[in-house]
Amino acid sequence: MSLRLGDVAPDFTAQTTEGEISFHNYIGDSWVVLFSHPADYTPVCTTELGTVAKYKAEFEKRNTKVIALSVDGLESHKGWIKDINETQNTTVNFPIIADEDKKIAALYDMIHPNANEKFTVRSVFIIGPDKKIKLMITYPASTGRNFEELLRVIDSLQLTANYSVATPANWKAGEEVVIAPAISNEEAVTKFPKGFKIVKPYLRLTPQPNL
Ligand code: BEZ
Repeated sequence: MSLRLGDVAPDFTAQTTEGEISFHNYIGDSWVVLFSHPADYTPVCTTELGTVAKYKAEFEKRNTKVIALSVDGLESHKGWIKDINETQNTTVNFPIIADEDKKIAALYDMIHPNANEKFTVRSVFIIGPDKKIKLMITYPASTGRNFEELLRVIDSLQLTANYSVATPANWKAGEEVVIAPAISNEEAVTKFPKGFKIVKPYLRLTPQPNL
């Protein structure tokens, strides 16, 4: 059966460009972005991995590790990293999994045969410190990902894990959030001391509570 939100992310051991990892140990107490790309030495993937390297500090600020995967081998990854560093003016600073036998791609359902029989699609999994899957997005090979969006989702996930709120459409860190429907107005008074607006009984807005 395919993976769903809330499932424990399957554990695995793998060779990566930064040595062998055991995935659950690698997650540790962090959040993790696991993302697959179709193949080494391809143009969109080159820009994606260069971009992620430049965003490393932003992920670290959010206690988040990033780890990439493709079904190419370690030597191919290592050669390609030199090209990424050169062309994207960066240094790849996170592990890339070599999944030549497609074991992990199968565990995470990253090969969509009607899109491409051999290569992984652009899957993204955000996994929490509890090892559970918090987000899954699948992009086609022809569309590079928006890593600002992944940071935005991590901000939302981390906020909503700690407060009884949810984040509205296009929300960005610092903006108003909505109060979870399960919270009564009486409870909201104590939980949200900055106050809240009742737009409709089911739509109540409050300033971001952790600022
Ligand atoms: C790319 O990363 O550039 C790419 C990979 C597979 C198909 C199309 C583009």
